[in-house]
Amino acid sequence: MHASATRPVRLDVNGFFSHMIGRGGIASSDLELVIPRLATVLEGLEVRRRSGELAFYDLPYDEQAIAQCRSLAGDLIAEFDDLLVLGIGGSALGTKAVLDAIAPARRARGLRVHVADNVDPDSFATLLASLNPERTAVDVISKSGGTAETLAQLLIVRQWLIAAVGERAWQRHVVITTDPERGPLRALADSEALRSLPVPPGVGGRFSVLTAVGLLPIAAAGIDIQALCEGAQHADTFCSQQDPWHNPAALHAGLLFLALRERGCNIHVLMPYNDSLLRLAEWYAQLWAESLGKARALDGAVVEVGQTPVRALGATDQHSQVQLYVEGPRDKVVTFVRVVQPHQDVPIPASPYGLEELDYLSGHTLGELLNMEQRATELALAEAGRMTSLIELERVDEAALGYLLYMFEVQTLVAGALLNIDPLDQPGVEAGKRLTFAMAGRQGYAADAERVRAMLQRKKDELVLG
Ligand code: PA5
Repeated sequence: MHASATRPVRLDVNGFFSHMIGRGGIASSDLELVIPRLATVLEGLEVRRRSGELAFYDLPYDEQAIAQCRSLAGDLIAEFDDLLVLGIGGSALGTKAVLDAIAPARRARGLRVHVADNVDPDSFATLLASLNPERTAVDVISKSGGTAETLAQLLIVRQWLIAAVGERAWQRHVVITTDPERGPLRALADSEALRSLPVPPGVGGRFSVLTAVGLLPIAAAGIDIQALCEGAQHADTFCSQQDPWHNPAALHAGLLFLALRERGCNIHVLMPYNDSLLRLAEWYAQLWAESLGKARALDGAVVEVGQTPVRALGATDQHSQVQLYVEGPRDKVVTFVRVVQPHQDVPIPASPYGLEELDYLSGHTLGELLNMEQRATELALAEAGRMTSLIELERVDEAALGYLLYMFEVQTLVAGALLNIDPLDQPGVEAGKRLTFAMAGRQGYAADAERVRAMLQRKKDELVLG
């Protein structure tokens, strides 16, 4: 893919190829294994998109949803100071990624938004203690409406609100974001006459950041969701191209697939060189892991595939992880994310010491140093014959984020098709959910409770130390 000044995001895949990294790199014979398949995959996805089966593709164009979220966000901003988001996994990670990337100083007036995804009692109690319930709105987000973590938090927060504002006013503080028709949260929203927003039926959690799941809290924080969606639309103009050489999502997916299948790279490291993008790497890790880690192929055959995502941060992890990436097992592809124009840069002053070890830094900025370090790590990996790719953002803003989120979603879908698995389901997390329900005494889970007991009985005391 050729760099273009008009794109907020550029993908450089040179680091996969043998002309950069030598023998272990991808050669034209490898490309023959994937490019024709990519063409077929893209055609199939286009057909499924047109049939409405892949609803996430068209979310950035849903003007009604965008307007609804902006309007409700405006109401909340007028009424409250803080927004507490209750949700986990795909109901939280996209929001956290965007909130971290767009600093409060670069937002319009908005609420302080807090995303409580975990049910760690210490952090949840500390967070509630820091908020004034009278000035706090709560967005309860669950696509299924049945997630134990989120529902437990809702019960706690409901009581917390009632204690502060009374039985008749707590409802005014709550917004429910869930399936438009089904699930316990929808029933609760209806019975309590709570404000609510729909999660479109065909969109799964980790593909839902551009629905009300992400758009309401992001807009409530004062971030421009229109620009975010326009960034995603911009990505769509490239990521819907049928020619893989013009489609960054497809080409990246194809090369990552080759790296996995032909070179045994079963780990994908996403390494932004920008503190504000670390949460984006967390969002991506969920998308890549939960979508691609599957036991069965579409025809039911046992395949047990996937590529383990790892989030790393440059330059910090150069002093922690990079030794392993350069010299350890050849089982990783590293994708760097770098930012061309930081929002602020810090010049490094002249050194008064006349020491060569300090003098060379003078005249540069921290931003330059960071990007030199990124380039140096990329080239060191290339010299060591390790695969890399590079995503370059002109700057971190709504347009670039929308572009990246969308590109990664399409990339994941394409990778799922190449692996011949369903990237939209997550059967592997169901077992853990059932066992949690059983331990919490939920009706209908007696057999699972028995499984818990039997499994725990297998533990041998001599293997528990300390
Ligand atoms: O991507 C997914 O589907 C999951 O990570 C879900 O988002 C997560 O399990 C939370 O589910 P729900 O939104 O139904 O509460």
